[in-house]
Amino acid sequence: MIRPTAFFSLLLALPLTAHADPAADYAEHCAACHGEDRLGGTGPALIPETLGRVRGIDTVIAQGRVSTQMEGFADRLSPESITALVDYVTAPLDHRPDWSAEQIAASREMNPDYQPAEKPVFAADPLNITLVVETGDHHVSVLDGDTFEVLARFATPFAVHGGPKFSPDGRFVYIMSRDGWVQKYDIWSLAEVGRIRAALNSRNIAISPDGQRIAVANYLPESLTILDSDLNPLRLIATQVDGTPSRVSAVYQAPQRHSFVLALKDAPEIWEVATTDLSIRRIPIDEPLDDFFFSPDYRQLIGANRDGDKGVAIDLDDGHKVAELPLPGMPHLGSGITWERDGRRVMATPHLGEGVLSVIDMQDWSLVKQIKTSGPGFFLRGHATSPYVWADVFFGPHKDEMHVIDKQTLEIVKTLAPFPGQTFAHSEFTRDGSHVLVSLWEDEGAVVIYDAKTLDEVKRLPMRKPSGKYNVWNKITFEDGTSH
Ligand code: HEC
Repeated sequence: MIRPTAFFSLLLALPLTAHADPAADYAEHCAACHGEDRLGGTGPALIPETLGRVRGIDTVIAQGRVSTQMEGFADRLSPESITALVDYVTAPLDHRPDWSAEQIAASREMNPDYQPAEKPVFAADPLNITLVVETGDHHVSVLDGDTFEVLARFATPFAVHGGPKFSPDGRFVYIMSRDGWVQKYDIWSLAEVGRIRAALNSRNIAISPDGQRIAVANYLPESLTILDSDLNPLRLIATQVDGTPSRVSAVYQAPQRHSFVLALKDAPEIWEVATTDLSIRRIPIDEPLDDFFFSPDYRQLIGANRDGDKGVAIDLDDGHKVAELPLPGMPHLGSGITWERDGRRVMATPHLGEGVLSVIDMQDWSLVKQIKTSGPGFFLRGHATSPYVWADVFFGPHKDEMHVIDKQTLEIVKTLAPFPGQTFAHSEFTRDGSHVLVSLWEDEGAVVIYDAKTLDEVKRLPMRKPSGKYNVWNKITFEDGTSH
């Protein structure tokens, strides 16, 4: 029989013992894989910079992720403890973590089994290889661009981010992950060469025209990491303006200028880093710009302002503003592509916030037309040999549609929607422009191959949530119809 006072203190004690202690739970159950400092280990980093876009974090912790090392904790942690852990891992870090040149160098892991082949170990055209990033289980498939056979499939670091970059001869590819890992893969040998963690949270990479320098744009720490072609760290450039660090939203390769061009997220400047001696040139601008598109000679760029309502064209030689374009609805200039129309060069950009494509005259940056689409899009592709541009409708209820647009009339000639209700997005041409590959962007997804002329389906390859596809030739030759 419990005495009333004891009963009362039991009541008081209960909520205390049930009170969640996320720091202790994290240290006990999570730190071994995700790192004591939450910066990652065998599991990914658990910080707001990366978890901001992850849905259902509580379900992941409770139930785990099927066929990965991430098991569920519902049997060991109460729902309250799990809720507290979600708050814990999505809270900002209490100090700015350090990721020094020594730590970068120490993270470098070369594949001990790697043997460079003397020639490609397959019969396919090595310049018509297309890589398919499969985000569903963090792999890349290596596709023969003529027969559409999968030649190999390899594991990437967790959560590939930004486009892979090929060495100028098309033999090697560098792949970057959200947690700042850069992986080098030898396409001829179909083998990983190695990997290194260039930063803790990164945006994308660029490669110099001679293939000797790889630049990594970072949010955490705010910096640009320069690696050599063997993944040795060469330079860590802290991106600070007047003593205040600025994140780097993206780095772009400007081959004709022999430079990397940096978009700074938190400062009204554009930086240009020479790929030769790594000297830095700072270009002051009126307000921060992001998401760059370049003229074919790389002399001018057009970037989007923070409010996402205009495009600003800057001349990189003299640093002056050349034009301002009204582009409401968050233009996604980085996805822009160009082609010839009536003897003039035009570029087109999708908008993330509006169902239109803006077509812009590149001689005077004037707006030629806004093509109405069935929703906001993300990616555009064309090819010099094709009369069409392929435009997805990534966002909104029509994400299952792919528009095919005539480059001259600027009219939609056909809308493909083979998988009602499922995301059908991102296209890529083969080297000769004869076929187009489109992603059924779902976990039980596929790459669907079309005849680029007749627009008939030719083949379907099952893939795990395929996202981007990258043809070696189109990328290394900077083919007009591909974004860079
Ligand atoms: C045995 C290693 C291991 C342990 C222990 C572990 N995790 Fe994980 N965790 C992983 C791996 C590996 C992944 C990536 C799974 C995948 O491929 O989607 C992951 C993924 C996650 C994700 C999704 C991250 C994202 O960006 O998609 C969250 C959230 C997470 N873990 C939280 C936790 C928490 C909280 C704990 C402790 C209660 C924990 N994990 C314990 C290995 C582990």
